[in-house]
Amino acid sequence: MLCLTLTGSTLEENRNLVEQNRAWISLVELRLDHLHADEQKIASSFPSTIDLPVILTFRRKIDGGECTLNEKQRLEILYETAKGDFAYVDIEEDVKRSDLKFKDPLFEQKVDFERSLRDRGVRIIRSLHDFSCVPADIYGRIAKLASKGDIPKVAVTPTSMIDVIALFRVQSELSSIQDKIIVGMGDYGICTRLLYKKCGSMLTFCSSTQAQLGHLSPQVMSELYRCDKVNEKTHVFGVIGNPVHHTSSPKIHNPGFEAIHYNAIYVPFLVDSVRAFFKLAEMLQIHGFSVTVPHKRNVQPYLGRITREVKQIGACNTVVRIQNMWKGTNTDYYGFLAPINDQIAQGTIKTALVIGAGGASRAVVWALHNHGVKVTILNRSLEKARQLAGETMSSFDTLDHANLYSKKFDLIVQTTSVGMQPNVDLDPVPSLEFSGTETVYELIYQPRETPFFTRASEAGCRVIGGAEMLLEQGKLQFEAFSGYHYPHWIQPEI
Ligand code: ATR
Repeated sequence: MLCLTLTGSTLEENRNLVEQNRAWISLVELRLDHLHADEQKIASSFPSTIDLPVILTFRRKIDGGECTLNEKQRLEILYETAKGDFAYVDIEEDVKRSDLKFKDPLFEQKVDFERSLRDRGVRIIRSLHDFSCVPADIYGRIAKLASKGDIPKVAVTPTSMIDVIALFRVQSELSSIQDKIIVGMGDYGICTRLLYKKCGSMLTFCSSTQAQLGHLSPQVMSELYRCDKVNEKTHVFGVIGNPVHHTSSPKIHNPGFEAIHYNAIYVPFLVDSVRAFFKLAEMLQIHGFSVTVPHKRNVQPYLGRITREVKQIGACNTVVRIQNMWKGTNTDYYGFLAPINDQIAQGTIKTALVIGAGGASRAVVWALHNHGVKVTILNRSLEKARQLAGETMSSFDTLDHANLYSKKFDLIVQTTSVGMQPNVDLDPVPSLEFSGTETVYELIYQPRETPFFTRASEAGCRVIGGAEMLLEQGKLQFEAFSGYHYPHWIQPEI
């Protein structure tokens, strides 16, 4: 179930949010603390106007909410509002039962709030929040909340892969607790939100306004990730990196899986420790994953097999489970070659100038070298150029001499980060001139057009952008993951 958190300041605003997102959600959480005081007074009528189950929540500042009232006032407003047709009411872990007895003019004796809710069939969520960590005794805390006969909810903040593992273990540690809500907040927690069912959580929260750190929009969670469709049989894939949430790969793989009706999900994992991630991969029976910076080298000690390209380049960007062993490949290598394969085969690319000698350059230079192309490497630091050139029998020079290499190559490949944020106005080789007959390959895909790309295009060169390589390498990963070709009728928006 996807639950939309409603943080509008008026009920009308919240009703509009419901309508905008209705297609993707199963229930909503009305956050009383975000409503104007006069709107709070009429909030009990809200559920009857939207035709979806509603969780009623009145969050205190210390739990990440906006309510600054004293506790007595807060609980009284919660009590009054809860008289509406809510499906669930959220009460924080530390609220004492004795504080939940209220005088009510309709009754002679004080009303026991919790009992009155249960009598009406309203379910109580007992919630625990921690914005700094995952508490060490998390399983004990959840069990204690559940022993009160309520739905336990923990919204905690993993700050490492080990914490993420602790949240995914909730399901096996506490499998007897049927209904529970587990939320990992912050960047590390995003995988727990998307794979909430694997944590044993009955629902996950989302919002179109990032109501909480790590919230994704209902449309993204439902249409891109289809996380409410995850079941026992779903194959889990992902991408590991640090940072990782900027990656476009989910937009390649998830629509691909959906198009071929393959029961699989592909999610980003922020990973500080590769070793810990491999533990999680065993736990979740992850079938394969992409690897991005800074782990392309770090994963190698954990791989049972690697391809020749991984060995040569020293970097692995794709890991798949094959017969209970992890196999590492490098699809950057083949993804780079895909748009120029024909030209190489026809002999129209025999020489190449590669700008840069970093990680991306290694895949490019080795791919060209292995296909008989004569490579010259230009790099800011001569030493790095010398090293890569030595391994691949290439020539090398510094960027300062770029003008000497004008109009001499069939192919020019730009592999440095110059042209990307924050250097979007810079060209790494302003003195290098184009003849217009060469093919120019820019590996940067964001922005789509760098100054180098534009200059080559204006000179009449055939220009290839980084998005093409990104897509090609993604399609090859998809084949490695699923065993199927990438569906040709899909055009991923990367
Ligand atoms: P990637 O994995 O994306 O290739 P990298 O390994 O850090 O990243 O390599 C970055 C490349 O961009 C290197 O060739 C780097 O040159 P140095 O080896 O001299 O550092 C190049 N690069 C980065 N910033 C640059 C700049 N301002 N001018 C020229 N080259 C730059």
